[in-house]
Amino acid sequence: MTDSDDAYDEPLFYRVIQYAAAADRDVVTMVSGNPDWDPPTALRTGLESYADGDPQDFQYPPSEGLGDLREAIAARRDVDEDRVVVTNGAAEANYLAMAEAMERDAGAEFLLTDPVYPYYPGKATMLGGAVTRVPVHEDGRVDVAGMRDAASAETAMIVLNTPNNPTGTVYSRDAVAELADVAAANDALLLVDEVYDHFDFTGRFESALTLDRDDVVVTSSFSKSMAITGFRVGYGVFPDSLVDDARARHMLVNVTGSRPAQAAVANALRETPPAYYESVRDTLRERIDAFTDALDAAGADYTTPEGAFYVLARFEGFPGTMSNVQQLIDEAGVAGMPGEAFGDAYDDWIRFSLCTDRAKAAADRLATYFDRR
Ligand SMILES: Cc1ncc(COP(=O)(O)O)c(C=O)c1O
Repeated sequence: MTDSDDAYDEPLFYRVIQYAAAADRDVVTMVSGNPDWDPPTALRTGLESYADGDPQDFQYPPSEGLGDLREAIAARRDVDEDRVVVTNGAAEANYLAMAEAMERDAGAEFLLTDPVYPYYPGKATMLGGAVTRVPVHEDGRVDVAGMRDAASAETAMIVLNTPNNPTGTVYSRDAVAELADVAAANDALLLVDEVYDHFDFTGRFESALTLDRDDVVVTSSFSKSMAITGFRVGYGVFPDSLVDDARARHMLVNVTGSRPAQAAVANALRETPPAYYESVRDTLRERIDAFTDALDAAGADYTTPEGAFYVLARFEGFPGTMSNVQQLIDEAGVAGMPGEAFGDAYDDWIRFSLCTDRAKAAADRLATYFDRR
């Protein structure tokens, strides 16, 4: 399906949050992907010591990012430091990659999955590109054959996100490799957004960087992994042939990124043990279990996330429209995201974010509500 979203529409996300905030009752808000858990301790200490630093350290950092941060990212991702551009979140890195795809003058179509994180079609349209969405398999796996059939000389880029928002699916390395081949066969690029890379509950996640290809861009950020969506520190790992242009575009748009935020992240990368990430995953596993157990009681279908932190639920006779979501806010006291915000394939579903310690209470409310209906 090709669509023509207005790129400048206010994201539906804001409308749901505003509606929930204005409700005349207590609402468990499971809309946004803003973590409610603590960042690493070294993130806070890094920020505190930064505040006492030399005025020189309050000036522009290098446009492509602080040297020690890029070095730490390159070491962790096992790539050449020159390929790393530190950006204002994965959001900017995705934009830079998509702009590069348009600039190559090798097609103007973005092949996306359905369902899809809504900012990709928004960015594609903003860049003057066309959007084609290929429905995923019923179990959330990307439909490689469907993507292959849809790809053509018009395709500028295939965009993937794994672990996936909203389906929670962790794509296999083989599927991503096949899609890199599909992109290459059509003189297109592949973008893989790995912003949820620390939230893999299967142990199966493998970064697309392991493919070691010169037509694949990988993006990620610390927004989710360090519970700091407000800091705006992300990055893109670009192929050698694209990194200079990405760096130039980043500089012309932003000059550079936020230095205190980057310094705090660099400190946290140096000092945070793996146990921090493991304990966050444990918390999320508990929330997934509690939420899905209660959804069982509500008689709902649901997805059990392999990664990321969203559950899609489907209640019979109650599709994931904005008006049904509003009804759940008013009558059940639970706010989720309408499935229709992610495309057509999951428009019967509602997405619930697990960024709340009241996930079980929310599912109990849903069970009571649907029991009475
Ligand atoms: C798939 C995906 N990509 C990118 C982002 C934005 O990440 P960042 O805060 O790093 O810009 C999000 C945020 O929810 C997301 O779900």
